[in-house]
Amino acid sequence: MCGIVGFTGKREAVPVLLNGLYKLEYRGYDSAGVALIQDGRIETVKTKGRIKELDEKLQSIGGFKSTCGIGHTRWATHGEPSDVNAHPHLSDNRTIALVHNGILENYLEIREMLKAEGFHIKSDTDSEVAAHLFQKYYKGDPIDTLLKLSHRLRGAYAFAIISADRPGEMFCTRRDNPLIIGIGEGENMIASDIPAILQMTRKFIVLNDGEAARVTPDGVTVYNDIGQVIEKEINTVTWDLSSAEKGGYEHFMIKEIMEEPKAVRDTVMPRIKDGLPALSECGLSDDLFRGIRGIHIVACGSALHAGLVGKVMIEKLSRIPVTATIASEFRYSDPIIGPDDLCIVISQSGETADTLAAMREAKKKGARTVGVVNVVASNAAREADGVLYTWAGPEIAVATTKAYASQLAALYLIAVKAGLASGHTTEEEAKKYCAEIARLPELIEEDLKLREQLQKLASLYYNRDHMFYIGRGVDCAAAQEASLKLKEISYIHSEAYAGGELKHGTISLIEKGTVVIALACDPALYEKTISNVKSVKARGADVILVTNGDFKPDGEVCDHVVKIPETSSFLSASLSIVPMQLFAYYVGVARGCDIDKPRNLAKSVTVE
Ligand code: F6R
Repeated sequence: MCGIVGFTGKREAVPVLLNGLYKLEYRGYDSAGVALIQDGRIETVKTKGRIKELDEKLQSIGGFKSTCGIGHTRWATHGEPSDVNAHPHLSDNRTIALVHNGILENYLEIREMLKAEGFHIKSDTDSEVAAHLFQKYYKGDPIDTLLKLSHRLRGAYAFAIISADRPGEMFCTRRDNPLIIGIGEGENMIASDIPAILQMTRKFIVLNDGEAARVTPDGVTVYNDIGQVIEKEINTVTWDLSSAEKGGYEHFMIKEIMEEPKAVRDTVMPRIKDGLPALSECGLSDDLFRGIRGIHIVACGSALHAGLVGKVMIEKLSRIPVTATIASEFRYSDPIIGPDDLCIVISQSGETADTLAAMREAKKKGARTVGVVNVVASNAAREADGVLYTWAGPEIAVATTKAYASQLAALYLIAVKAGLASGHTTEEEAKKYCAEIARLPELIEEDLKLREQLQKLASLYYNRDHMFYIGRGVDCAAAQEASLKLKEISYIHSEAYAGGELKHGTISLIEKGTVVIALACDPALYEKTISNVKSVKARGADVILVTNGDFKPDGEVCDHVVKIPETSSFLSASLSIVPMQLFAYYVGVARGCDIDKPRNLAKSVTVE
């Protein structure tokens, strides 16, 4: 979703801004622009399309010597992708340039008011009103003006602003949208995300909701929501730029799939002590699990799919009832949750608007909250009562792979911990599970050797219009994620069904040539799934069976078998998903899709 970058220093701003924008490309966008303070005036250059086009436009205009400016990648919400709707937006008197991430809910009312006062609105965006409103309130103190703006605007925002009368200075504030300030030497940056600042520094400040900052080449001053100067902690990025680069791979997605063993290892190994899960410092103590009535998992998309696997595992090992709910539904459902419940929020970015809102709803009702989060110091990580970081490192491809893999691993540890604390899993069993979890990275390495087979299967089926995924129990949960991966990367229509559910209607869609991918990785359910497979095969489907069992492709049950490493069904979702991610990847490549930045998608969904 939209990206913000700002720079002030002693060198030229344009190359730094462009580099930052390139680093934010992965978030998804459809137009981009920059604004600079040059000779006491504000210059903007904007374009629909890719950063490369903006880069070319800036080069063809040339002559930008400014050392202070802001840039933006826009992911259209209000108004089509176009040059005029692209950010930065200028105030009516052209003295203020502003970039905005988020959605301003009361922009229509403000727009009408501004129009009535004679302001000229040029774009269809909600963001532009903020630039005019800033002009209206501005009496020479940008921080005071930003605080006024915050009181007047409803919705979510991160703003970065430059003002023609303040060369070398940038101002910013945020609410419900991430914003960090990169601390360099004699130069500083503003950004919505860490990769944009790594060209300059690894040190950064996280701005909290309601705070505002003045950023100059020599310093950063942060103010609270009533304008008092406050001290902020300086964080250090623990990963380097190479983790956020392709490192010889054709796409980030395949690089990140190949990084799954490391992501899982880094997530679980520090948390297994004396053969048992050690999660107390994440807020998951034995006492917590003993005292709770139920667990509510809330998340969106793939993170929710990880939650579905987590639900099966936690219930199995602990017999504590678990719900796994789409965050955008949970937040408006007046959920039955209270002080006796635990709410687990799962989020790679830690910034997903619906997930954050669901967590706040759970907190408001007295539930204890724990975040399973990848991005350090993100909103979810800071707001949850406890946080279990998934140490997957930066995930750049829009479609999640390694973060999902590490979410599953984290949830297995939670399941064992809950099982042990509730008394439904013995210490001996818990140790056995933990030993299996510790072996996961090695098993995923093994799994990745299936790469060539999946590439071949993709070459056979990449031009089909529909595909179905089926499975039972944990395979059904994994099938949801397998299907989502295919949809988002290849744009092929696909659906995931519980094996036993297909016959209640959807089987009417199965005909000769429909591809059905069946996941059968739980020996207790093999027979059941195989009979579902037979029923689609009998109707002409081309069947790929993903299994850890001993099946042969016989043309009667299935056409192809993808044999994943053997484990107990406890971990099978981690192993069945790897070939499914590879399949989606190679199908997408064969169809010539934009793998790392699929159409219409954004990495971090910070709007409702
Ligand atoms: C799909 C995907 C999305 C995210 C979802 C939640 O590949 O990445 O479905 O899982 O948008 O995002 P986070 O985990 O950042 O809350």
